[in-house]
Amino acid sequence: MSRLFAAVYDPVLRATERACLQAWRAALLRPLEGEVLEIGAGTGANLPHYGAGVSRLVLSEPDPHMRRRLSARAAEAQPRAELCDRSVMELPYEDESFDVVVSTLVLCSVPSLSGALAEARRVLRPGGQLVFLEHVLDPRPGRARLQRALCPVWRRVAGGCRLTRRTEEAIGDAGFELQAITRESMQKSVAPVRYTIRGTASRS
Ligand SMILES: C[S@@+](CC[C@H](N)C(=O)[O-])C[C@H]1O[C@@H](n2cnc3c(N)ncnc32)[C@H](O)[C@@H]1O
Repeated sequence: MSRLFAAVYDPVLRATERACLQAWRAALLRPLEGEVLEIGAGTGANLPHYGAGVSRLVLSEPDPHMRRRLSARAAEAQPRAELCDRSVMELPYEDESFDVVVSTLVLCSVPSLSGALAEARRVLRPGGQLVFLEHVLDPRPGRARLQRALCPVWRRVAGGCRLTRRTEEAIGDAGFELQAITRESMQKSVAPVRYTIRGTASRS
């Protein structure tokens, strides 16, 4: 990911955050309890939304430009967070060491969707929760065609982001049981990334 992408990330998302993302992040994260690992934490947009129930917060972010911004934001946040510089594909944690794994707008960018979900499942305790908010392949055929057409260029300019992932199906295939899911378009966002899913899934 480039220095430029990291620099423009928050300003580009600002209108969408105000229109819907901040509320969605808060509703997903405020109730969380126990030991939480957030993958691909980016610039730290989720940090204001963790509540007092979180006993340990680990933020993994492999990109150095994003991590620099994350580190500055985490230094002022509560609960205190530990930063980890590793990819979700190779997390340096024991099996079954977290109660919750959080992924927001990340699974579009990982090199292997099934590999990332398998690694998230590995570090979750049985009964632990995957909390997700992701843009995915739009079910409307016209939108999906647009996403497929734009995907190669988009991937190059947007930090490896794929527009056409079927993340809901992949979560089920990875051995999670969906507990709650909302399918909704992001307001004030561009069409290729507008359609999202968010919710929780439990690790069997
Ligand atoms: C679109 S940003 C989302 C940032 C943040 N989660 C949010 O909700 O605003 C995608 C993030 O995923 C990170 N990422 C990309 N590949 C990754 C990987 N293999 N493991 C962990 N994070 C990754 C990127 O560095 C980037 O910070």
